[in-house]
Amino acid sequence: MRLLNEVVIVTGATGGIGDAQVRLFARERAKVVVADINEDKGLKLANEISGGGGSALFVNLDVSSGSDWNSLVEITLDRFSKIDVLVNNAGIYRTESIQEENTDDWDRVMSINSKGAFLGTQAVINSMRAKKKGSIINVSSTTALVGSWRGGAYGASKAALLSLTKHSSIQNAKYGIRINAVVPGPIETEMISKNISDPEGRALSESRILLGRLGSPSEVAYAILYLASDDSRYVTGTELLVDGGLTAQ
Ligand SMILES: NC(=O)c1ccc[n+]([C@@H]2O[C@H](COP(=O)([O-])OP(=O)(O)OC[C@H]3O[C@@H](n4cnc5c(N)ncnc54)[C@H](O)[C@@H]3O)[C@@H](O)[C@H]2O)c1
Repeated sequence: MRLLNEVVIVTGATGGIGDAQVRLFARERAKVVVADINEDKGLKLANEISGGGGSALFVNLDVSSGSDWNSLVEITLDRFSKIDVLVNNAGIYRTESIQEENTDDWDRVMSINSKGAFLGTQAVINSMRAKKKGSIINVSSTTALVGSWRGGAYGASKAALLSLTKHSSIQNAKYGIRINAVVPGPIETEMISKNISDPEGRALSESRILLGRLGSPSEVAYAILYLASDDSRYVTGTELLVDGGLTAQ
């Protein structure tokens, strides 16, 4: 029970990696706030956890909206009285090259993937500072570290998260708050389904990975659990790669 009675907010909680986290954290006895724009899936997931004897609450959150963040914090404190962990996990993916990308799409990616985590950090920090304890995990991507033929906006938005992680960890360590990033490689979720749906695309992705296969959502969730729990109490400002060795070469 590595998160016994800890209050954990997961954004993008109904997607592949988010859903895996919610289920894992609930098994570790956390009280989980399931935050997403997908109300149907979010309510279903939270009900499933609560029905199974766990504790979960769905809150409709668009991470790019400051007022949504304010109400999420209010609802969470009202229901659970504290916030121990925030996972900035929500994200959208784009594959257009820099030449193909238009400014509206660039802004949208930045607004959800980068600004979302900035707003989330700001929104929870006062309640974490008040009790001198907290853990924030930003879900970045290996596209922040290495370039590719497709994409541009997505990788740049994920690189911004690595910088946000370093700056915010420095600014909050003295308040007992640890802030880290996880950096997944390709993980089998809806997000990259187009890239891997044809056998050739899949084989190409897998051929670049030292461990020879794509990752699963629960393999990322376990890395986030480590950063969320006291097991990582001496770890802050770091970037934990979960990429099967993709970027080791
Ligand atoms: N799947 C991969 O290969 C991979 C690799 C590296 C990093 N990541 C990152 O992991 C995180 C989770 O990705 P996933 O693979 O589970 O993707 P996913 O598409 O399965 O899930 C994304 C979730 O984010 C939610 N979301 C989208 N816009 C939102 C908004 N404005 N506000 C709140 N929620 C919103 C969606 O409803 C969905 O539940 C993302 O940040 C993604 O960039 C994924």
